[in-house]
Amino acid sequence: MAKINCIGILTSGGDAPGMNAAIRAITRSAIASNLKVKAIYRGYEGLITGDIKEFTTENVSNIIQRGGTILKTARCAEFQTPEGRAKAYENMKAEGIDALIVIGGNGSLNGARIFAEEFDVPCIGLPGTIDNDLNGTDSTIGYDTTLNTIVECVDKIRDTANSHERIFFVEVMGRDAGFLAQNSAIASGAEAAIIPEDSTHANQLEQFIGRGIRKSKNSSIVLVSESPKCGAMYYAERVRKEYPEYDVRVSILGHLQRGGSPSASDRILASRLGVGAIQALKEGQRNVMIGIRNDEVVYVPISNAIKSDKPVKKELIDVLGILSI
Ligand code: F6P
Repeated sequence: MAKINCIGILTSGGDAPGMNAAIRAITRSAIASNLKVKAIYRGYEGLITGDIKEFTTENVSNIIQRGGTILKTARCAEFQTPEGRAKAYENMKAEGIDALIVIGGNGSLNGARIFAEEFDVPCIGLPGTIDNDLNGTDSTIGYDTTLNTIVECVDKIRDTANSHERIFFVEVMGRDAGFLAQNSAIASGAEAAIIPEDSTHANQLEQFIGRGIRKSKNSSIVLVSESPKCGAMYYAERVRKEYPEYDVRVSILGHLQRGGSPSASDRILASRLGVGAIQALKEGQRNVMIGIRNDEVVYVPISNAIKSDKPVKKELIDVLGILSI
């Protein structure tokens, strides 16, 4: 196995709070292991255009508390083509980069997997996404912060919902995964969550509206996972039609969910994963995502990590159901 002297780091896909903490951890732990660090800007785009700069420990000072990513990020269509990846490989070699560490979500890690297979390049992935939809890790970088941001917003919306005796449908991100909606519903005391993994709530609109409003409650909050067809607007319209007696509002939280200073949990997670990435390379690991499961750092083959079948526990669905009576 060829010796690794220099690593490249990039962030790719949607930014997530804690990415900077991961960049810091990777950089510092690489330098502590006598490895050179090259920072690649704008994700795979920077690898293709050669937007690359050597980092010292000072480049990552004072960033652990900052949201977003100092490396910038992008979703790069060119990297999805063999020609784009060939250009990226040329630049990587020209820069003397022997291994790549990619911080990103599903699509970004899939890109790393293909690149690693095509050019026999050591690639390590870090789960960086607010969606928490990567297998093999209990949490992804950014998920905890976003959950807290959503809960803060719902607490505020609750004041208006109560005062005006309204039903609010609050739409949150997550792409195809319902972790953000389900757990923010539990944490904010919401009446229900409509998530892609569980179709029962969606079909039982009447039941949860009846349960909440018609009995003792004078207001309801329903967390809804984003969806092109069945988002918060869709459910609000259904209630307006089927229950015209209710005053219904929609709040789509949008990109405010992705910003902000990372929570302590995300900073610790990102720091442990960053150190874990360098440790994995030193142990000769290739093509794995670093995760934390049951408080232990684990190596997960990227091909397993990106399978889009991470389940939302049935227990969480039950907890919300029981507590929203
Ligand atoms: O994957 C992170 C995420 O925030 C998803 O939850 C959301 O669907 C998507 O990215 C939004 O992407 P963009 O910022 O490109 O609109």
